[in-house]
Amino acid sequence: KKSVRDVDVKGKRVFCRFDFNVPMEEGRITDDTRIRAALATIEYLMQNGARVIMSSHLGRPKGQVVEELRLDAVADRLSQLLGQQVKKMNDVYSDEVKIEAEKLHDGEVMLLENVRFHPGEEKNDEELAKQFASLADLFVNDAFGTAHRAHASTAGVARHIEGVAGFLMEKEIEFLGTAISQSDRPLTAIIGGAKVKDKIGVIENLLEKVDNLIVGGGLSNTFIKAKGYDVGNSLLEEEKVELAKSFMEKAEQKGVRFLIPVDVVVADKFANDAETKVVEVDSIPEGWQALDIGPKTIELYKNAVLESKTVVWNGPMGVFEMDTFAEGTNAIARALKEVNGTTIIGGGDSVAAVEKAGVAEAMTHISTGGGASLEFMEGKELPGVAVLADK
Ligand code: 3PG
Repeated sequence: KKSVRDVDVKGKRVFCRFDFNVPMEEGRITDDTRIRAALATIEYLMQNGARVIMSSHLGRPKGQVVEELRLDAVADRLSQLLGQQVKKMNDVYSDEVKIEAEKLHDGEVMLLENVRFHPGEEKNDEELAKQFASLADLFVNDAFGTAHRAHASTAGVARHIEGVAGFLMEKEIEFLGTAISQSDRPLTAIIGGAKVKDKIGVIENLLEKVDNLIVGGGLSNTFIKAKGYDVGNSLLEEEKVELAKSFMEKAEQKGVRFLIPVDVVVADKFANDAETKVVEVDSIPEGWQALDIGPKTIELYKNAVLESKTVVWNGPMGVFEMDTFAEGTNAIARALKEVNGTTIIGGGDSVAAVEKAGVAEAMTHISTGGGASLEFMEGKELPGVAVLADK
């Protein structure tokens, strides 16, 4: 794919898509990794005299304006990091946006409002794609974390103006492109988190490629249920239970070790101060919910990790944002430090966990992508990459 280095940007207006989908608490950014990861491209464009129109989504506002999901805090952080005021627009697209984009001088930057406030964004609406394209001469996609979505600002816009990869996009593709296909064995994937629907397809594809598949976090309840155990009030994707069962059978046929929790930490409510206890997965009491993996499971997972030469980790093992349910995730982070081989981390929570555990430096690659990095490693073509021009 062509990169921003392969085109002349001087005096050009450039529509850029980044993934500034950062964790926020009460209006404040709690982790700006994804913003920092975009700086190389932004600074390159500024220094080379481009007129930069930046865009991103934040959260899932579903085509409506949600005040807490405005990008003002992102614009402030960008201004700080770039040492230059970033003009922040309050619309995704409007006459005013168009006028302000035309007023940009060489080396100046502006930021549009959260693109997902516009109902056309996630629909990959042609009209919106054209409007984005009308702002600029060139499209730079640096949003690796959102490259698995075919949206107006990640894919549609490239139907109207040439699209090239930013530096982060380029780096992620280069590293992750061979991460699984040329990995040292045994290869272990640890998949956690709560987005069952997003990850179930990933698990199916990974079964074809890995030696060990470890499941934890909210999505593991669907597998526990598939084993025939009750999960009480735990998060469960009832309509995926049969599928989960078929994956475990398939794994057995293929000789892939498929590990699901053997014990869990259950709580009487979804709160940090809940009453908790450790139970075997066949004894989750009615009315209780599993919110972390238990100590026996930690041992089991740790041993599999330590035997591996390549480990891919995506998604927490429990409700890691609450201290009471963070031990499973933290233990995995610590175990990864001991791996004598390649370690690849993706997904905001896993990245936060390795940082919190102080082991980030020891990881081989920390991806800014969650779902995107998994889908890419599975071998899928990402829509946000497919639209970019070839060299
Ligand atoms: C992510 O955090 O994985 C990306 O920003 C994509 O977000 P999405 O899952 O809401 O599309």
